Amino acid sequence: MGEGYLTEHEKFFEANRDLWDKFAKINYESKTYKTKEFLRGETTLNSIELEELGDVKGKTLLHLQCHFGLDTLSWGREGAVVTGVDFSGEAIQLARKLADAAGLDARFIQSNIYDLPEVLDEKFDIVFTSYGVHCWLNDIRRWGEIVSHFVKPGGTFYIAEFHPLLWIFDWDAKDDFKMVRGYFHSPTPCKFDVDGSYADGETKFESQTDYEWAHSMADVINAIIHSGLRMEFLHEFAKAPFQSFPFLKQADDGYWVYDNPEVQLPLVYSIKAAKDE
Ligand SMILES: C[S@@+](CC[C@H](N)C(=O)[O-])C[C@H]1O[C@@H](n2cnc3c(N)ncnc32)[C@H](O)[C@@H]1O
Repeated sequence: MGEGYLTEHEKFFEANRDLWDKFAKINYESKTYKTKEFLRGETTLNSIELEELGDVKGKTLLHLQCHFGLDTLSWGREGAVVTGVDFSGEAIQLARKLADAAGLDARFIQSNIYDLPEVLDEKFDIVFTSYGVHCWLNDIRRWGEIVSHFVKPGGTFYIAEFHPLLWIFDWDAKDDFKMVRGYFHSPTPCKFDVDGSYADGETKFESQTDYEWAHSMADVINAIIHSGLRMEFLHEFAKAPFQSFPFLKQADDGYWVYDNPEVQLPLVYSIKAAKDE
């Protein structure tokens, strides 16, 4: 993948990076992201990924699209030797500040995912990524190749992500799911006008456009198969760790659910895949 590959999508990535620089500053201070709780010693990881990925002690872990490092550093506290990557310079600076404040060793690298093989020359026991990553990537096939490139032989890839089905619904519908867009991938991104972060309804900035892409469940699975990784499982969950829609209700275990026993939808999925030696 050379420079030409990025050129076609550069303006989308630049706009998205600029937005994520703004989001990072707001999110760091927001209640949603629980930075203070993390600094008091709480993990920001959810039971889904903690239980499914298992013991990470002493393992090298590459966290793709790490935002400002809360989950990266939480894996560090679980004993992993962590590296976080994100294309937002603000997010990476805040991640380093957070690591210092928490007294944790971690490495954070600013890079577009698609440039990473040219920036980082290492393989990892675990490649991890989670919640809200795929919609920012235009080429899921190439993403799979990059993920696989960084997994050591004998290593593991793990993702916990919002289910692609959610893409079809209006994020802001107040009362119930409302279908507003198609499920399948189009190379032309969807444009959204944004003037504040999903993590803080109050802090506003001048409205700007972001660019996002749909990727079906089949596209994700085929990207992993194509990359040479061996799928171990695909799980679907009728619960999410964040309130992705205003009408979801919080259950006793802290997860958000659609409160209609007759109509249960997958809100999150997880995949574990192995690279055979
Ligand atoms: C929703 S966040 C990450 C999810 C993480 N679980 C969290 O909420 O802290 C998405 C992240 O992807 C990053 N990102 C988006 N497109 C990227 C790209 N092409 N390369 C690297 N990072 C990217 C953004 O900067 C942002 O930090």
